[in-house]
Amino acid sequence: MNIPNIENCDLYGKAVLLRVDFNVPIKNGKVYDLTRVLRVLPTIQYLINTGAKVIIISHLGRPRAKENNLSLRNIVKTLSQLLNKEVKFVDGCIGKKVQKAVNAIAIRDVILLENLRFYKEEEQNDTNFAKQLATLADIYVNDAFSCAHRAHASISRITEFLPSYAGFCLQDELKYLEKAVSFDAKPITAIVGGAKISTKIKMLIRLTEKVDYLVLGGAIANNFLLFNKVNIGKSFFQNGINDLLHDIIEMANKNNCKIVIPEDALVAVNSSYSTCILRKTESILDNDVILDIGPQTLSTISSIIASSKAILYNGPMGAFEHSVFANGTIKVMKVISDLTHEGKLTSVIGGGDSLSAINAAGLTNKDFTYVSAGGGAFLSWLSGDKMPGIAALQSK
Ligand code: 3PG
Repeated sequence: MNIPNIENCDLYGKAVLLRVDFNVPIKNGKVYDLTRVLRVLPTIQYLINTGAKVIIISHLGRPRAKENNLSLRNIVKTLSQLLNKEVKFVDGCIGKKVQKAVNAIAIRDVILLENLRFYKEEEQNDTNFAKQLATLADIYVNDAFSCAHRAHASISRITEFLPSYAGFCLQDELKYLEKAVSFDAKPITAIVGGAKISTKIKMLIRLTEKVDYLVLGGAIANNFLLFNKVNIGKSFFQNGINDLLHDIIEMANKNNCKIVIPEDALVAVNSSYSTCILRKTESILDNDVILDIGPQTLSTISSIIASSKAILYNGPMGAFEHSVFANGTIKVMKVISDLTHEGKLTSVIGGGDSLSAINAAGLTNKDFTYVSAGGGAFLSWLSGDKMPGIAALQSK
């Protein structure tokens, strides 16, 4: 994909407005998952090394008003420690005070601005807001792939006012996701789990064109069991999507893609989810809640993974946050990571829950070929959607 690369830009002495995704979990003012911060360090470090003045912008959460717990001030200490350098902070994104703070920074300095979403104009993709942000800098760099599906002022509109480039994290995301849907080696398997199918329908349809096996787990699989007239008891499913499920199955048949759904399941027998019973899927009872795949399904999935050259993984196989229902998710992750380490598999993992599943399995990004930092953006990319953040850079 042709997008302007920061390495082709003379940065010395230039004020660079760097859009990152610091939408990270914060508790009591502390960042407790550094993944997204670590991902953009190479770009920040590169900007510092090349003698730029680095102005970092990001959103955090979905604030309705100015909320202290969603202030980017919460990230300053962590970022300073990681960069081993003072990171300045200004309590705003536009206006005189911000301009003054930005004008005061020297070459190789880093300043972080306040949460962009404290301004409603950000999500409105407001031209004037983008113009005012642009006055702060000479160059714009987008390193926030995980926000590229949003048509927001700091993601898409801003590129109308500044020379615009992609940072290293965004470039990596595009490189690996492109690779994930265009592997030459076959078979390719997509493993899709998680709770909500509504956000994944388009992706599932598109995947049937790209992969040989579409393995379904989590509550997503419940919809397919029900479609096949299997009793799923009180398990979670989505109403009114039979036509869409029919489309997915039809497309899979047309494209020679085999859809794999659970043969057995661990079901909850009480509402505390503290104990489970194993059942064949055809023997699920009316009060059962399916919360994990069973050993037979795990064995089938493991064989498919072992026969695959590439895996695309999105979403857990069950309610892994409850320890008795975590086995399927953890074992599937481990099989993928083992084969990746043995050099037998290319594995690309992505989507919000997937990162928590990696943590739950005691694994890290290093156990897979690539782990995307994107949640909604990962799904959007795999659905073939036009992503405003990427389109804006491509048009440069
Ligand atoms: C994410 O967490 O997926 C991104 O930061 C985008 O956040 P949003 O869904 O609130 O736009």
